[in-house]
Amino acid sequence: MKSELEAIVEELKRLRDDGVNYVSVSDETIHTLRQVSLDGNRVENEAASKESSSPVSTEIPEKIKSASPEEFDRLLKDEVVKNPSRSPTSDSPFGDPPAFTLPEGDKRARWEALKEIVLNCPVCQKNTRDGYKTVFGVGDLDADIFFCGEAPGGDEEEQGEPFVGKAGQLLNKMIKAMGLEREQVYIGNIMNWRPRLPTRVGNRPPTKEEMAFCLPYLAGQIEIVKPKLIVALGATAAKGLLGFDSCRTLREVKGIWHEFAETPLISTYHPSYLLRNDSKRDKRAAWEDLLKVMERCELPISEKQRGYFL
Ligand code: URA
Repeated sequence: MKSELEAIVEELKRLRDDGVNYVSVSDETIHTLRQVSLDGNRVENEAASKESSSPVSTEIPEKIKSASPEEFDRLLKDEVVKNPSRSPTSDSPFGDPPAFTLPEGDKRARWEALKEIVLNCPVCQKNTRDGYKTVFGVGDLDADIFFCGEAPGGDEEEQGEPFVGKAGQLLNKMIKAMGLEREQVYIGNIMNWRPRLPTRVGNRPPTKEEMAFCLPYLAGQIEIVKPKLIVALGATAAKGLLGFDSCRTLREVKGIWHEFAETPLISTYHPSYLLRNDSKRDKRAAWEDLLKVMERCELPISEKQRGYFL
């Protein structure tokens, strides 16, 4: 319950940060949801500490509960620093992130071995809905460009391939606009399963714990492909790869070169965001990020391409 509430809060904040202005949820509502989440946490922790011999203070301080929405995040962060038991990653329900050794051999053999590990991962299997698929990356193992999304959606868990739904169709168009085909890049996600909601309808962004669990599988794919650069699609992928506290909004980091696993990384808008938000300004902003990618990969750029969405 707690992680679902947290995820709803994250999604609402993400929409807001991405500039979506038609979701009528106020900061107060977000604030209330977080308090509900904290109260749930307190009840769970109290139950746990009754069974444990070392007493842990689980009371959420009154000053946090009654803080204004603006103050809330800052106070909560201080509290987590003071009391790490409050950290959502300290007792992940998914257990420790997986450790594995890739076999010696060529890229294809190493990739097949990692795919086998991921598709047979018990945690991935447990979290993948019955009758649906755990999703592993696809593409050219010698690709210069590694696109990284956040998590499979409904179409992806049905087909077992990343970015095959509407967002995938737009991603394909973006790749084509760069003068490439989908098969010439590599496409992966931070997550290998579709984050669960009580219903089949709708998506939620993955939680920190979910991403922390799956990240080694993505890092393994990056290690095998050794791309020239990574394009993180959307705020969740950027936060998952750069660290959750790396940015509050995607705007703070998009279009700027960073690094993940010694590989240059740039983040841009997620295709789903561009589909929801039909703004020429955002399309141009995303395209400018892709122009930077093309320049870094020394791809030919025509005058026509330079002028898209102007
Ligand atoms: N969105 C993602 O981030 N990844 C997918 O695979 C599909 C949609």
